[in-house]
Amino acid sequence: MQTAGFDRKNISSIRPVFDRDRPKLYIETYGCQMNVNDSEVVAAIMQNAGYSVTKDIGDANLILINTCSVRDNAEQRIWGRLEYFRLEKKKRPDVSIGVIGCMAERLKESLLENNVVDIVSGPDAYRELPKLVEKTESGQKGINVLLSRDETYADISPVRLDKTGVTAFISIMRGCNNVCAFCVVPYTRGGERSRNPETVIRELKELSDNGYKEVTLLGQNVDSYSWNGVAFADLLATVAESTPDMRIRFSTSHPKDMTDNVLKTMAKYDNICNYIHLPVQSGSTSILQSMNRKYTREEYLQRIETIRKIIPDCAISTDIIAGFCGETQKDHEDTLSLMREVGYDFAYMFKYSERPNTKAARQFRDDVPEEVKVKRLMEIIDLQSELSLASHKKDIGSTLEVLVEDTSKRSENDLCGRTPQNKMVVFPKENRKIGDLIKVKIIACTQATLKGK
Ligand code: SAH
Ligand code: SF4
Ligand code: F3S
Repeated sequence: MQTAGFDRKNISSIRPVFDRDRPKLYIETYGCQMNVNDSEVVAAIMQNAGYSVTKDIGDANLILINTCSVRDNAEQRIWGRLEYFRLEKKKRPDVSIGVIGCMAERLKESLLENNVVDIVSGPDAYRELPKLVEKTESGQKGINVLLSRDETYADISPVRLDKTGVTAFISIMRGCNNVCAFCVVPYTRGGERSRNPETVIRELKELSDNGYKEVTLLGQNVDSYSWNGVAFADLLATVAESTPDMRIRFSTSHPKDMTDNVLKTMAKYDNICNYIHLPVQSGSTSILQSMNRKYTREEYLQRIETIRKIIPDCAISTDIIAGFCGETQKDHEDTLSLMREVGYDFAYMFKYSERPNTKAARQFRDDVPEEVKVKRLMEIIDLQSELSLASHKKDIGSTLEVLVEDTSKRSENDLCGRTPQNKMVVFPKENRKIGDLIKVKIIACTQATLKGK
C-alpha cells in the first residue's frame, strides 16, 4: 500500500475525496460529539497522507474504530465490533485495523494482544497515524498513546463526514481538568487546553463558505475556555458576529463554571440558539459532593433560575447518573424532585458504571445493587418522558423556526429539523429542501418529536 507521491495541493478539502485509485480508509465512531469531530480530523490527516474515505468496510485497506470508555457497555460494544473485524481480516489479511480514541488511551498495548488490532492511537497522537499505518505495512504493530499538553489540531480542517452538509462541530478545546469521581475522560483525554480563537473563526468561515448553516462548539467544559484573556463568552460573541447567518450552539456547560456573561451573550445574539445542556448528575448535595462536582443542589437551581431570568425561552437538558456509590433512596428522590423542579426539556440518563482507576473506583464501593440501579434509572426515564412530553405540548399552536436537516426516517415525504431549543420537528416536504431555515406551525407532538405543517 503506497501512500507517498500524491499531490498534496489537491487533497485538502473539507468534504471527503472519493478516489478509486487511492488506498481506502473506513472509519467507525462511538462516543460523544467530540469523537465524531475527531474522526473528521483523522479523515483529514489520512486524506492528506494519500487515503480516500470509503463507507464500505469491504472495500477498506484500513479500518479505524474511534472508541469510547465512558461506561463499560460502551467498551463492550467495541469488543463486539472487533470480533466482527476479525472475520473481515480473515477474508482479507492485508487489511489493517486500528483502535483509536479513548479506549485506545485507556487500554494501550493490551489491545494488541488479541491478534486483531494492528494500530493503537490515543486522542492526542492522530498526526502520527500515517506513520503507524506505514509500520503495519512491514508487518509491525503501531502504537502511540502519548497525551499532549498543547495538541488541539488547530491547523487541521476536519474532513466533514456527515451526509447532509448542514450542521457541523468545531472543537474549541480538548481534555478536562476536573476530577469528577465517576469519570474516565480526564484519563483518556488528558489535561484541558483551549484552541487559538483565530483558528476557530477560520474553521467557522470555511464551513459557512461551504454552505453549512449551524455549528456546535465543543469542549468537555466550554465555560473554562481561555486563550490569552479570551474567555468563552468572548469567543461566543466573536463567533456569533463573524457568521451572523449561521446558527451557533455549544456543549458542554459545567454548572460550577457557567458565567452570567455567557448567558448575556446568548441573549444578545439572535443566532446563538437558546438551548443549554447543563449536566446535573444528581439532585442530592451529598452525592454531588462525593462525585466531586463542586456545586450543591441549591447552587445548581440558582443557575437555572438565572438562565430563566436572562433567557426566558431557553431550553435546558441534562445528564443524570442513577445509582452512584452510596446513593440512598432519599438521594434518588432528591434527583427526581430536582428534575421536576427544573422541568428539563430533555435528558441523557445513565446507570452508574464503575471505571477503573477513577477517584470513585479507588475511594468508594460500587454499593448500589444492580437491580436498585435499574429500578432508579427506570423511574428517572419515566419521569423524563413525562417532562419531555409536557415541554413539547407547550409548543403546540406556536410557529417555530426550524433548520431543515434531513429527510425524516419514517417517510420520504417528510423532512426533519431542529428548533433553536433543539427540539426535533417533522413536517411535510412540499417544496422545502435540506439547509432551508423555515417557519413551522406545530400541530401535534410525542415526547420525542414535534409535528408541524
Ligand atoms: N464533560 C461533560 C460530560 C462528559 S461524559 C460534563 O462534564 O458534563 C457524558 C456523561 O456521561 C456525563 O455527564 C455523565 O452523566 C455520564 N457518565 C460519565 N461517566 C460515567 C460513569 N462512570 N457511569 C455512568 N455514567 C457516566
Ligand atoms: Fe468528566 Fe467531569 Fe470532566 Fe465532564 S467535567 S469530562 S464529567 S471529569
Ligand atoms: Fe467522549 Fe467517550 Fe471519550 S464520551 S471523551 S469518547 S470516553
